[in-house]
Formats: sequence, C-alpha cells, structure tokens
Amino acid sequence: MRINKYLSGCGIDSRRKCEKLVTDGRVRVNGKTVIELGTDVKEGDAVEVDGKRVALTFKKIYIMLNKPKGCVCTVSDDKGRKTVIDFVNIKERLFPVGRLDYDTEGLLLLTNDGDLANKITHPKNEVKKTYSVRVEGEPTAAELKRLRNGIEYNGVKYSGADIAVIGAEEGATRLEITITEGKNHEIKNMIESLGRRVLFLKRISIGGIRLGGLSRGEWRYLNSREIEYIKSL
Ligand code: URA
Repeated sequence: MRINKYLSGCGIDSRRKCEKLVTDGRVRVNGKTVIELGTDVKEGDAVEVDGKRVALTFKKIYIMLNKPKGCVCTVSDDKGRKTVIDFVNIKERLFPVGRLDYDTEGLLLLTNDGDLANKITHPKNEVKKTYSVRVEGEPTAAELKRLRNGIEYNGVKYSGADIAVIGAEEGATRLEITITEGKNHEIKNMIESLGRRVLFLKRISIGGIRLGGLSRGEWRYLNSREIEYIKSL
C-alpha cells in the first residue's frame, strides 16, 4: 500500500496532508526516514510519524465539535496554542476535516477517516457550508449582489455565494452566507472586498449536517443519518 494511503488509514490525516508529512521528512519506515511519495508499505513494516509508531485502524470515528474561538484546527501546534483535539477526550487519533480560523467558531467535523475528509473538502463535491456572519454596518443591495455573482479579490476568484439577510443589529447586519469552495479566509475576504469587516463568524452547517444546540467546546458522535449523508457524497 502507498505510504500516504497507509498513513491516512492509520487515522493520521487526509491523504493529501499525509503526503506532506512524508515530504517534510516526518515519516520513518523500519527505522529509515522516507521522503518518496511512491514508497510502499507492507504488512509487518514498522511505520512511525514524528517518532511515534502508527498502525492501521479499522474503527472509523465521526465527531462534531462546536469549536470555540481561540483554538487552532490542527492536531498539534508548534506555538503551543490550544487545538481542537484538546476538546475531545477519547483515546483514538482524530484529525479535523478542513479548517476554521483561530477566531472563527462553530461546526467542525473530526474523524480518523481520510477518505471522508477528502470527500467533504474536495471542491468538486461542492458541499455547502453555511456561516452566520455579523458584518460591520449595513451592506447595500449592490454590495450583496456582487457577492452573489462572484468576485475577484487580491488576485483570488470567489464564486457566487447564497446570502440571506437575517436582520439589523446595533451598527451591524446579521447575514447567513453559504459557500461551496472553502478557500482560505473565504468569508472574511469576501466581506473585506466590500471595505467592511466581519465582527463575528460561526459555521452552522456542512451540507445536511447542522450544529444545532451544541454548546461552545462541546462535541458529540455523528448519528447514523449524518454518517450515511457524508458517505453518500
Ligand atoms: N471563512 C473565513 O474567512 N474564515 C473561516 O474560518 C471560515 C470561512
């Protein structure tokens, strides 16, 4: 089995991210560092990531977390910041599916299923992600139209978003914005392109999966309907 597929099957991360672990020189097979993505692993090989032995896992785990602000969406952080994994007290290895910014809160999926992570994050699957967004001031109809049609900002193209105006708040407007791309800082950049700031950002759904009433920092296992939904993508 190819090294990235093997590592992903061990629940380390998605296949794409596992490729980077290899090229970064963090993976050893039978005591030797391997950096070739073509490396094959066979039964009985001793595989280590950052010096820790890993093994294929067959039990797949799917969790949702209501990510609070002030933590990073990685398994470990070299700056010592709190990570989303710190909130989930189970013994199996998990990794976050995609990213929310340090100061963004809301629905985050965690799993040890690398294939599933790819399905959700791959742009070709166009999985809808909806955010509750508090925007500075009152965006005009023309501004919202620009975002609905799609924009280019700082050399990056953002496809059109679905936008619902939820209501006016003090000095601000509450929107619900649905996107399918998941580019870096996508919502913040869209709003910044209007010369406005995002004051609050929370993801409330990923496709058919909704955050519901989970409190900040709380997590739960996905139910069978939610798992079926993801597998059907
Ligand atoms: N868009 C952003 O700007 N930040 C996030 O965390 C998610 C979407």
